[in-house]
Amino acid sequence: MLQPQPTIGETAWFVHDRFGMFIHWGTYSAAARGEWVQNFEQISDEDYRKYFDHFDPDLYDPKAWAKAAREAGMKYFVITTKHHEGFCLWDTQWTDYKSTNSPHGKDLLTPLVEAFRAEGLRVGFYYSVIDWHHPHFPIDFHHPLRNHPDADKMNEGRDITIYAEYMRNQVRELLTNFGPIDILWFDFSYPDSVWHGQPGKGRKDWESEKLMALIREIAPKAIVNNRIDLKDVPADVVTPERYQPTEWIKVDGRRVVWEGCQTLAENWGYHRDETSWKSADQLVQMLVDSVSKGGNLLMNVGPTARGNIDSRALDALQIYADWIQWHARSIYGCTQSEYSAPGDVRYTQNFQTNRLYVHIFAWPYAHLHLPDLAGKVEYAQFLNDASEVRFQNESHAQEHNMMTCETAPGTLTLGLPVLKPNVTVPVIELFLKK
Ligand code: GLC
Repeated sequence: MLQPQPTIGETAWFVHDRFGMFIHWGTYSAAARGEWVQNFEQISDEDYRKYFDHFDPDLYDPKAWAKAAREAGMKYFVITTKHHEGFCLWDTQWTDYKSTNSPHGKDLLTPLVEAFRAEGLRVGFYYSVIDWHHPHFPIDFHHPLRNHPDADKMNEGRDITIYAEYMRNQVRELLTNFGPIDILWFDFSYPDSVWHGQPGKGRKDWESEKLMALIREIAPKAIVNNRIDLKDVPADVVTPERYQPTEWIKVDGRRVVWEGCQTLAENWGYHRDETSWKSADQLVQMLVDSVSKGGNLLMNVGPTARGNIDSRALDALQIYADWIQWHARSIYGCTQSEYSAPGDVRYTQNFQTNRLYVHIFAWPYAHLHLPDLAGKVEYAQFLNDASEVRFQNESHAQEHNMMTCETAPGTLTLGLPVLKPNVTVPVIELFLKK
């Protein structure tokens, strides 16, 4: 079995469960132009205030979100407790910029955590170390006020150590007020992005070692991601964003626990006008592809400022729900196979049950040739209906029973129906010989 590097946080459940829901929700949802709107449009704090002043998610129903996530096959979630805009979804004692002071007037995080726990999902908190609202966060390269004529003057007196302490206070709150937290997901560091002589930000600014020590003291088992620029303390999980790695991710030559995060369309926060919604094939293939390389998938939804998940995102979740109901066995408890799959195929393998899962991304004409598997398989069936898939170990031109072509030595050939089964990505379950 291909074991990744050991971690400090508890990752056994995480690499078993494989699939989570990312949730980006904040006052940017009201602008409905993505969660970076304040930065992209260089909006001052005063002008951005209108989103806070009108933030009233009257249709907020976290139980519905949790149900949709569970039905889609997601086993954990990660919610933006505070994104780069600085707005907090909980009743923090460390700032006034929080949901309880918006027209909504209520803590949004507590009912969410309760609802998702009730559906059996593990709890993850995203926390942005970037903060465009905090008065002691120095204006830099990524700040909405980077081109403000008085930016340098405004930076006088900003003291990042005060901000670092603010973060520790908030993280302590997040780790103590909501029951056991399974994942802390920080975002993000950019130590090398110099701007106007103003350096980027990384572990020195966040005081990452101190932050980490605090986390390990309160929540030793929590999984912590890799975005606070830690040097000597290894992160529990590496988080490639919006791309599928070409192979199992390695750090210093060792395989690591990794989780890709992906969007349904382009943005993370709700964007009314975007049209780049991914197809059913792409959505399911991303999940399969991640597990086939030993990783997890954290798929994002961006709820609206009324507090609902819009129909396009719900449709996408339904695609996962329709698929996972038949194919759970090829995802949970599975990882990269010991065998290499041919082109349009992805393998996952369950080393406990000794089964290999063949995910077919492009439907072949009638045969699928799998190298190195001849003689290794005891039985084969489709996962969606447990119908037998007949196969042949190596094939020679003279034995014209199932095959009419010759295959390379060691090749296993599956005989497939000409018609693709009516599921987004068909999966064949191979029972490997002991
Ligand atoms: C980025 C973005 C952000 C998003 C995150 C998710 O770094 O700044 O908006 O929350 O990635 O991975």
